[in-house]
Amino acid sequence: MTAPLRAQASRTATVAAPAIDDLREAAVRVLSANWTGTHSVPSRTLYPHQWSWDSAFIAIGLAGWAPERARRELLTLFDAQWRDGRVPHIVFSPSVPEEAYFPGPAFWRSHEAPAAPRAATSGIVQPPVHALAAWRVHQLAPDRAFLREIYPRLVAQQEYLRTHRRPAGDGLVAIVHPWESGMDNSPAWDEPLAAVPAEPLRERRRDITHVAPDERPTDLDYQRYVALATAYRDGGYRDDRLLDEHAFVVADPLFNAAYGAAEAALADIAAEIGGDPCPHLEEAEAVTRTMVDRLFDPARNLFLARDLLTGKALPVDSVAGLIPLILPDLPGDIADRLIDTAVTRFGIYAGLPPSYAPGGPAFERARYWRGPAWVNTAWLLWHGLRQRRAELATLLAESIIRVTATSGFREYFDPFTWEGHGCHDFGWSAALTLDVLDAR
Ligand code: SER
Repeated sequence: MTAPLRAQASRTATVAAPAIDDLREAAVRVLSANWTGTHSVPSRTLYPHQWSWDSAFIAIGLAGWAPERARRELLTLFDAQWRDGRVPHIVFSPSVPEEAYFPGPAFWRSHEAPAAPRAATSGIVQPPVHALAAWRVHQLAPDRAFLREIYPRLVAQQEYLRTHRRPAGDGLVAIVHPWESGMDNSPAWDEPLAAVPAEPLRERRRDITHVAPDERPTDLDYQRYVALATAYRDGGYRDDRLLDEHAFVVADPLFNAAYGAAEAALADIAAEIGGDPCPHLEEAEAVTRTMVDRLFDPARNLFLARDLLTGKALPVDSVAGLIPLILPDLPGDIADRLIDTAVTRFGIYAGLPPSYAPGGPAFERARYWRGPAWVNTAWLLWHGLRQRRAELATLLAESIIRVTATSGFREYFDPFTWEGHGCHDFGWSAALTLDVLDAR
């Protein structure tokens, strides 16, 4: 049987108990191999430093069997937090050579930015899923001292986004680079990115030495990514004139949902350590209301990103538009409509949600965020569905287990055949599989 056919066959079979034990052991092996002593790399080959949202998801998977590592994972990331509160999307390891990853520390030059920490980092951020992760780590392995240590840093992370990254004054947090969305080459960014002048790359891409080029963003994408990052860096990573001076300023539903869910998690954390949950609850409610007003598209039954430079919604069926299900205050009727979309256009009753709905003109089943299914977005949906539609949440958890049991801890998967793509031994695929196994 070919691999895709085998994957098809295993869609319906449940994974037997001995295979579950093997899966658990394999996941622990991957996380152990990716642990450096202070943090985890998402992949030993493709991503050899510490990545922001990867660390949050990885911490969740460490919490069940290595809680000290889970806490260290998050604290190491926050040791590289900038003085303005931003949590960089990459913290570079001094022991990894510059040539191992592009763009590396010599490109970002964080040491020249006044607010940067001593560690070399990038100057952009990623979805703020860390408060959610810290709270889950505490639920799995209670430790109030850890919560007390990380709480002010999580608050500062939110404060940076609230005060520096709401350029339109409409309550929506903006991203200034597709890398900040975590979903680099999502078709949602095609239109705003087309307005960014592409400049020839002066450096060689390293990613395509590890993964086939047709599973990664294109060279034209990279030219624009580098041009945008260069402009932001050369402006000193300042955010005060984004709408006048920056070429990519977008409100993303996944990012804003993470921001809102972070406030809800901070309310739980504050209550646990004797703080005041009220301001967090109010902010979570406010951002949820704004998102419903400004980003929900009632014709598509999906949240859409909005280009804050043109004011236009970006009409693309991205899985990011389902992630607001993680907002505890999302009105029930909006949640029902999202769930309908998740079932009918993203097929979540039968597998992991594709990153972009099949049938759309930009769909590519193996190219990074343009179609393949990812474990982290499936986990976020699972998390959002648990309190609302337990039977669908269970189906999704079983799909995560079956996909990784069938294809291994690959970075992403063909949404039809479940064939694995991208790098092998990918941290969050292993970590979040462990989490859903433990939640059974
Ligand atoms: N996701 C980007 C990469 O592929 C960087 O954050 O390297």
